[in-house]
Amino acid sequence: MIPLTLAEVAGAVDGRLAGTDGTATVTGTVEYDSRKIGPGGLFVAFVGEKVDGHDYAARAVEAGAAGVLGSREVPGVPMVVVADPLAAIAALARVSVRRLPDLTVVGVTGSSGKTSTKDLIGQLLARVGPTVAPPGSLNNELGHPHTVLRAGPQTRFLVLEKGARGPGHISYLCRIAPPTIGVVVNVGVAHIGEFGSVEGIATAKGELVEALPADGVAVLNADDPLVSAMATRTAARVVLVGEAADADVRAENVQLDERGRASYTLVTPDGRHPVRLGLSGRHQVGNSLAAAAVAREAGLPDAELAAALGELRLVSTRRMDVFDRPDGVTVVDDSYNANPASTAAALRALAAMGKDRRTVAVLGYMAELGEQERSGHEQVGRLVAELEVDRLYVVGAAAAPIHEAATADPRWGGESVLVADQETAVGRLRDELRAGDVVLVKGSRYQTWDVVDALRANGGAAA
Ligand SMILES: Nc1ncnc2c1ncn2[C@@H]1O[C@H](COP(=O)(O)OP(=O)(O)OP(=O)(O)O)[C@@H](O)[C@H]1O
Ligand SMILES: [Mg+2]
Repeated sequence: MIPLTLAEVAGAVDGRLAGTDGTATVTGTVEYDSRKIGPGGLFVAFVGEKVDGHDYAARAVEAGAAGVLGSREVPGVPMVVVADPLAAIAALARVSVRRLPDLTVVGVTGSSGKTSTKDLIGQLLARVGPTVAPPGSLNNELGHPHTVLRAGPQTRFLVLEKGARGPGHISYLCRIAPPTIGVVVNVGVAHIGEFGSVEGIATAKGELVEALPADGVAVLNADDPLVSAMATRTAARVVLVGEAADADVRAENVQLDERGRASYTLVTPDGRHPVRLGLSGRHQVGNSLAAAAVAREAGLPDAELAAALGELRLVSTRRMDVFDRPDGVTVVDDSYNANPASTAAALRALAAMGKDRRTVAVLGYMAELGEQERSGHEQVGRLVAELEVDRLYVVGAAAAPIHEAATADPRWGGESVLVADQETAVGRLRDELRAGDVVLVKGSRYQTWDVVDALRANGGAAA
């Protein structure tokens, strides 16, 4: 954030000063977790279901906070008091970013791969200038302004993930920090429960490109018709990315190695360059092209860009994190979250890695599918059969349709087990896994995290 006095903070958020004359200056970061407060920080106190941030206000000041933004006075604490701290943090972010005229704001949305793509964009832009693109999935009405407030006078690029649980959410986030570059990765069935239809999701994701100015740039996935159709919804210049012939930034001759890492020829209006990604999964091709398009807009020359693409690494955890255990088992930790599209992407990566190896898929429940819950799980089960995965572990009764559809599929030639919970899965895997196996672990948030953590902790030796 730009340095602001508490009086200026109060002015920005329409708040009232209490316990301070307002002259203290916020020079540090804005935090809602008091443990993260450092000297000169601003602590935002929220009243949650279990925790009341105001109880930590005094501690935040002891830790060096210049003041506290909250919804009631705390005796002895320099406060800016507002009716709604969530609206206030958004207002503060808006004011802060408006005072950074040289900052380029990049917004990223999509159904799967927002965080992954944001992480790639952040790494490429960091080569051009100071960049704020923190790890993780800070894409909602709290994480988003919190990230915006990380940008200061030195920052040149701010990369923001934008999530939508309903119509209007992305427009709201775009009003906090208006982007000039917008990236739409894809449209799928993530959170379909809240939207009703894939078209409803496309309408909501498209709010990002509607928010772009005429001198802005919309980076759209040429391979996803619901995304490329957004070209008509923006005043900005459109850059299409993908493998389609009409893509402006294109990948040709995509090939995967034994670790599911893609190499391709990067084709841009300026030339052709070989690229070899260090990240696993064919879906990283599209993500990397979107990041490449943004980096080109920021002025990274193609030759340098092609080399930089090869140096991209994972930033946020549990997304296509491939590791080898000492016992010769390779684990693909893609357990952060799951929907049918991202599970398909991960299963295809597993199949690519398992050409000469035994493949094991450990799949958990996929949440937020609404009416498509059953069909979404069944679709995944059929794909497991089609890709000839050798062993399937389906974790939890809620995910049973994966097991049912896989085993009912005429192409199924493997073995499938439906296990009650993660602990049972861990026990079975401990007995089952042997050198050479490749294991994919995936499910919606928390559904398979214990499994993958156990696979990581346990070198695989029989207990
Ligand atoms: N382009 C893509 N297509 C399909 N799946 C993808 C793509 N990029 C990443 N994934 C996979 O989707 C899952 C979620 O990835 P990521 O966290 O990047 O997405 P997100 O859109 O930020 O998700 P969330 O809505 O949870 O914030 C991971 O398993 C990841 O490997
Ligand atoms: Mg995310």
